[in-house]
Amino acid sequence: MTADTPPSLGNLALSRKEDFKTFADAPRRQQPELLSRAQLKALDPQTRAKYNRLRREWHANLGPIKTPQLTDLHEDLWDIVDSNLQDGDKAKGAVAVDAFPGLGKTTSVLAFLREFHRREIAEHGELTSQGHERWPVCRIGLTGNTGMKDLNRAMLEFFEHPGKSRGTTVQFGRRALDCMLSCEVRVLALDDLHFLKWGKTSGIEVSNHLKWIANELPVTLLMVGVGLADKGLFSEGEAARNSAGAEFEDEAMAQTGRRTTRLDMRPFRIKNESGRKEWRQMLLALEQRIVLADKYPGMLADDLSDDLYARSTGHIGSLMTLINRGCQRAVRGGSECLSRDLLKKVKNDEASERARLQLERALENGRLTSRPKPSPPA
Ligand SMILES: Nc1ncnc2c1ncn2[C@@H]1O[C@H](COP(=O)(O)OP(=O)(O)OP(=O)(O)O)[C@@H](O)[C@H]1O
Ligand SMILES: [Mg+2]
Repeated sequence: MTADTPPSLGNLALSRKEDFKTFADAPRRQQPELLSRAQLKALDPQTRAKYNRLRREWHANLGPIKTPQLTDLHEDLWDIVDSNLQDGDKAKGAVAVDAFPGLGKTTSVLAFLREFHRREIAEHGELTSQGHERWPVCRIGLTGNTGMKDLNRAMLEFFEHPGKSRGTTVQFGRRALDCMLSCEVRVLALDDLHFLKWGKTSGIEVSNHLKWIANELPVTLLMVGVGLADKGLFSEGEAARNSAGAEFEDEAMAQTGRRTTRLDMRPFRIKNESGRKEWRQMLLALEQRIVLADKYPGMLADDLSDDLYARSTGHIGSLMTLINRGCQRAVRGGSECLSRDLLKKVKNDEASERARLQLERALENGRLTSRPKPSPPA
């Protein structure tokens, strides 16, 4: 790779420090130039193939777009992380981003971690005062049915620690603690925390472990997952309602609940005018990013607003899948534009498809609309 070729971001494992750094340091992708049909036609086959490959990559990686959901989450995260600058002997507040799948939790949290990493390195330098590498962020993506030991090992794997293959849960934990202290980690992000084993007894084990992390490590714990509240992560006060025997366990959970701020992410909603305006803003922002020769102002925001809402039910994940696949088809087939007919042929995720029919009927017979009222002329 030459000095001026940007590193490929297609094959990164963000649960390893070097890859995380590559992700954090990478410059923003350059939007390919928008060519007209005539310009496209005039390209020789090789240049056209290259241009189309650029557009494929671009459309597959649109974003992150500054949606209101992302902006709100970032504001809250900055508040919490920056207010957590107490000395190491005080336990820090933790954060849980708890929301349904496909609402942009991972994307938004990664965008925040990227900014945080860059800010810390810019302010404090690449090395700590002891001469160790500085890693402001340790980010772990959990996989199915992870136990405590696997979680501790995953932290060691992030740092490529030589002691990651042998040891007990406690030893792994201690080594992870050492790494975090010497690298001056400030945020420990655990993505897909619902993958941890949360059985009846291991729920307590999980809670205690998270408490240990919050107490012993001078980090802000940032947990991300689906249904964390249902798993009892914040279940304060449950003890009173449960049988007396469960009281001790619930107290342990309550301690985690007390220190944890829960943040939500919501889908786009069109029930009221402000929701419809947000939806329109999102579509206008997307329009700007689409690189198709025949795109026109209002292609998404006017002509496809209802269709896109019905098919995504306001979930950003499903919306982005539709737009990405639609653009790929428009480039490949040469239609160079998104239309109702083209979108009909594009497959989307199962959950959105199930919710679609009901919404489509309401939108079609005019009971519901996704478009805000046009603003009166100035
Ligand atoms: N702000 C954004 N701008 C552009 N695309 C986004 C944005 N947020 C999310 N997406 C897209 O939506 C898809 C789903 O987002 P993401 O994986 O972050 O959701 P999630 O809430 O973490 O889901 P899960 O619970 O399944 O992990 C991704 O493909 C991502 O590219
Ligand atoms: Mg995710």
